[in-house]
Amino acid sequence: MQRERLRYLRLAAAVIACLAAGAAWAQAPARTKDQSAVGALPPARGDKLFPEPAARQYPVPSPPFTPGIFPCSECHKGMKPNTKRRVLTEEHTNIVLNHAQGERWCLDCHDTYDRDRLHLVNGQRIRFEESYRLCGQCHGDKYRDWKVGVHGKRTGMWNGEKQYLLCVNCHNPHDPRFKPLKPMPPPVRPGDIR
Ligand code: HEC
Ligand code: HEC
Ligand code: HEC
Ligand code: HEC
Repeated sequence: MQRERLRYLRLAAAVIACLAAGAAWAQAPARTKDQSAVGALPPARGDKLFPEPAARQYPVPSPPFTPGIFPCSECHKGMKPNTKRRVLTEEHTNIVLNHAQGERWCLDCHDTYDRDRLHLVNGQRIRFEESYRLCGQCHGDKYRDWKVGVHGKRTGMWNGEKQYLLCVNCHNPHDPRFKPLKPMPPPVRPGDIR
């Protein structure tokens, strides 16, 4: 009786082992085929599976550039991008980074090869009209509030067309902390002697 059961158990174990081996064999060719087709560089299959959703465009004013500075390519087209972190001495000397400085450099935000555009952390290039998407990568809470009109400024119709101010209309991207406002002097009453 005892022996009989042991035999059944062994038989069952053998069947399971065969099935497992079969499954592994069935998968193996698929894996090798994939690798040979790919070569050294893995394809960005995620791009096809999860395409970048078309970002919603918000109606914004034109970016607040200093007159004459845009298009940046006017100067940068012929220039070799210099990716070295350094103090600029020839141009843009008025820009002093005070925005998590030490961890950040110009080309984290500005595209290295297309200076007329910014780029996101995934490398996607965006226009200056969409700079809120750049800011939104790190300030997600503010971006979410901005979209629904809680942070920043949104004007227009309650249930119709709206206009949004860009983050950079209020915050200097290079030194974004809001400067404290100087308090106004207290009112002077007519009878006060000063
Ligand atoms: C946090 C991201 C970020 C970093 C870092 C950054 N910038 Fe900018 N910069 C911006 C954005 C966004 C604008 C666009 C503002 C606008 O829409 O007018 C801008 C605007 C500019 C302009 C146009 C300024 C003007 O007067 O109109 C220049 C030039 C510039 N950046 C150069 C630089 C240089 C040089 C560095 C590095 C020392 C740098 N930026 C670092 C985001 C950044
Ligand atoms: C008048 C010409 C001119 C214009 C217009 C100009 N740049 Fe530049 N830019 C320069 C020069 C020159 C340098 C190199 C400065 C140095 O090395 O000291 C430079 C350097 C930079 C750098 C540092 C990285 C690198 O490749 O050297 C960034 C980032 C940059 N510019 C962004 C911009 C952006 C963004 C704009 C447009 C909003 C812009 N520039 C418009 C001339 C210009
Ligand atoms: C890569 C991440 C990153 C991006 C992109 C970024 N920021 Fe920031 N930002 C930071 C960090 C980190 C700090 C905190 C820096 C500090 O305390 O010195 C900061 C600080 C700030 C502050 C000051 C908050 C305070 O303490 O008062 C403002 C305002 C701000 N960012 C706005 C912006 C705007 C506008 C943009 C888009 C042009 C932007 N940021 C893009 C990371 C980012
Ligand atoms: C209409 C002007 C305006 C616009 C547009 C705007 N902000 Fe602000 N933001 C402010 C003011 C004002 C403060 C408050 C400063 C303070 O409390 O000292 C602030 C504060 C912040 C702070 C600091 C908050 C903190 O906790 O200290 C961050 C970060 C910030 N804004 C990011 C953004 C981003 C990102 C956008 C765009 C998506 C944006 N802002 C658009 C005016 C604006």
